[in-house]
Amino acid sequence: MAPAAREPLPEPLLSREKILRRIGELAADIARDLAHCEELVCLGVLKGSVFFLVDLVRELPMPVAVDFFQTASYGSSSSPGEVLIRKDVDLPLRGRDVLLVEDIVDTGHTLNTILSILRLREPRSLRLCTLLDKPSRREVEVPIDYLGFSIEDRFVVGYGLDYGERWRNLPYIGVVPTP
Ligand code: IMP
Ligand code: MG
Repeated sequence: MAPAAREPLPEPLLSREKILRRIGELAADIARDLAHCEELVCLGVLKGSVFFLVDLVRELPMPVAVDFFQTASYGSSSSPGEVLIRKDVDLPLRGRDVLLVEDIVDTGHTLNTILSILRLREPRSLRLCTLLDKPSRREVEVPIDYLGFSIEDRFVVGYGLDYGERWRNLPYIGVVPTP
């Protein structure tokens, strides 16, 4: 039997080299701002940010604790922007320095919800680091402290980002070909 035809690969937008170089710069900024920090709690938003978080924390000089938060959107037109919490953070956050790590900020609803919840835990500091930002899509303001790349309004995949769970393991960030 002939092998199944492969789908065309996403068109490259950001190479792995470019992403890793930028992560080195972000880590240097974070290390400088949090030089006093005894331990930084890095919270990844599942699942997309895992790939970015892993590369980022390995560049940080201070001791790091890692935990995860997971959300989903109801995807219903009757509750636009309403975010469902699937998994809460396991670690206590009160009085600790926290860095929330996300793959992409789109409308801003997800991070707006997560940040509101985390603030209630009274961390000593709470900062947001996102690899990508699509500012033209924003519906609610989100304070981004560390940004990898600002991109245009295109649906991107790879380096953790998926389209229906596909393409997360692509080593670069690309745009899915539209049929
Ligand atoms: P927001 O709540 O609209 O900011 O949505 C953020 C979430 O939507 C991200 O965490 C991603 O899971 C998903 N998302 C938004 N834009 C893209 C994209 O271009 N590719 C893949 N996922 C995306
Ligand atoms: Mg996400």
